[in-house]
Amino acid sequence: MEICRTVEAIRDTVAGWRRAGDRVALVPTMGALHAGHMALVGQAQAQADRVVASIFVNPTQFGDPKDLAAYPRTIEADTRLLEDHGVGALFLPAVEAMYPEGDETIVETSRLAGLYHGAVRPGHFRGVATVVTKLLNIVQPDVALFGEKDYQQLAVIRRMVRDLHMPVDILGVPTLREPDGLAMSSRNVRLSPEDRAAAPVLSRALDRAEALAAEGAPVETMMQAIRDVIGSEPRAVLKGLDIVDAASFRPVVRHLTRRAGIMLSAEFGGVLLIDQREIDPP
Ligand code: PAJ
Repeated sequence: MEICRTVEAIRDTVAGWRRAGDRVALVPTMGALHAGHMALVGQAQAQADRVVASIFVNPTQFGDPKDLAAYPRTIEADTRLLEDHGVGALFLPAVEAMYPEGDETIVETSRLAGLYHGAVRPGHFRGVATVVTKLLNIVQPDVALFGEKDYQQLAVIRRMVRDLHMPVDILGVPTLREPDGLAMSSRNVRLSPEDRAAAPVLSRALDRAEALAAEGAPVETMMQAIRDVIGSEPRAVLKGLDIVDAASFRPVVRHLTRRAGIMLSAEFGGVLLIDQREIDPP
């Protein structure tokens, strides 16, 4: 695996592959890699001849400098994991390489960025859209892969790529879960044993809503069922619950007529966990 720290180095590597006619996939990450990230790498390998992974803890998507400083950094273990999974190149840029001195250009999905998760984290999706644009421009992959777990992030990226006519396919990858249903996340290690045992309530609440959707239940019934399931777990504090149209991302009112996404977040002992499920009308 080549480790590239500059824009020039990763471009040279990818250019060599392209000359050989290889198709290239990009998996952007912020490191602290776990099996969920590796599911993206596995899908990338199924899609392309060569896989680039990037690790960059992007300062512009963090509101609070303390969060940025506290973000886990496990670069040696990450490098080994990517190497063992057959990744062709790791792009590991410094902040100055991604945001050159005097940098002033931003990319923002003006409506989507302010909704739902974006309403509680102002500037977050602008930071994501801007850094993903930079990564796509630097690597110029044929396909880039993102997790469905970060459902609104995936929607922001799809919208941006469509609106700006970026020549790349975006592929969403289903959430990888622990055997008890908990979505894999770098935050799970911060849960106390009691909170870890309680956290699968998120996926159970989504299972319940999915079953109701299959019976044709109205949206409000699904919302109430989710609140009830989360409410039955005293360690869980519900933070966000939205059912949105998968295509437009507008809230669904009354009945499902098309594919929709449920976005759910809850705190367990101060650790915010998110989960998501796509549902279809019967
Ligand atoms: P990060 O949180 O490191 O996540 C990198 C990718 O892994 C994202 O596309 C995320 O949705 C995916 N992912 C995380 N947990 C997953 C799971 N359990 N199953 C499947 N995929 C999972 O998301 C970011 O980084 C950043 O915002 C980034 C897109 C890299 C821009 O800075």
